[in-house]
Amino acid sequence: DDETLTTFILTGDVRQYLPIRSLQGHKGTHGRGVLVAGSEGMTGAALLAGKAALRSGIGLLQMVVPYGLAEGMDLALIEATVWGAEGEKALNGNAWSVIYERAEKAQALAIGPGLGQDPELLLVLEEVLRNLSLPVILDADALNILAKEPGILGWRQGRGPLILTPHPGEMARLCGCTTEEVQANRLELAISKAVEWESIIILKGAITIIAAPDGRAFLNPTGNPGLGTGGTGDVLTGSILAWLAQGVEPLAAACLGVYLHGKAADQLTGEFGLSGYTAGEVADQLPKARRSLE
Ligand code: APR
Ligand code: MG
Repeated sequence: DDETLTTFILTGDVRQYLPIRSLQGHKGTHGRGVLVAGSEGMTGAALLAGKAALRSGIGLLQMVVPYGLAEGMDLALIEATVWGAEGEKALNGNAWSVIYERAEKAQALAIGPGLGQDPELLLVLEEVLRNLSLPVILDADALNILAKEPGILGWRQGRGPLILTPHPGEMARLCGCTTEEVQANRLELAISKAVEWESIIILKGAITIIAAPDGRAFLNPTGNPGLGTGGTGDVLTGSILAWLAQGVEPLAAACLGVYLHGKAADQLTGEFGLSGYTAGEVADQLPKARRSLE
């Protein structure tokens, strides 16, 4: 029945999801991830997601940003490789070729943080859904673009795992309802849409829900209201990208990412209490959260 299908994420489970770092490992074996993100005024979203991916142990992070921002990003996130794609201040419909080139050699892709909402990006999303068989995360503006045409999710069927990471406002736009309706009905809505869209849905908020396409759902016990500050969602996306790139199964990567993100924030309350730590600090805390499980 429904109740046995919904459980809290257990620390013991998360510990088992952690990839084992081989002593012979090198950046080639720790996974390549592509992060498509950023536009003028929102380069920080790309930066935070990238930092979180690096702090989650990714082998090689490849950022795809509008070419007008590429130089600045290259300097700001020195550990990542940066690829400029079509669009000066924000990516446009022609960005696909660069994305495809990077994705071909990667194990996972995330698109959305600070992306902007050029209407042509709908075409890029269609290409991503139709042509890439690696696990894909859609966040933030990718979800806002998708909300205009949720039917394109059908293009993904049978092609590869998909993870959507909406906050309640983004979920409302995707479902064509109000944020209040989402919040009044979080669990049922997350599960029904995960089944309908054959996607993992991470419905964020106090007690984030991870709903799977088979109808199961997991509730996250970590996190606190200090996370209610700009950029923490971008950190979550980058972290899950890294777990996927390291070969963690999509549902486990979603649970692991959400749990450790909240755990990192909980550790920060020791010093800061329930407010005033920043998204960048959550990203920097991620290795310590992971280490506390080892
Ligand atoms: N308790 C626990 N966790 C919380 C709480 C809370 N009270 N409040 C927020 N969080 C967590 C959420 O679960 C989520 O992981 O903080 C994170 C917030 O993520 P987002 O809402 O995506 O916030 P943000 O990163 O600032 O988004 C940046 O992208 O999604 C768009 O509209 C968004 O423009 C904004 C941008
Ligand atoms: Mg967000």
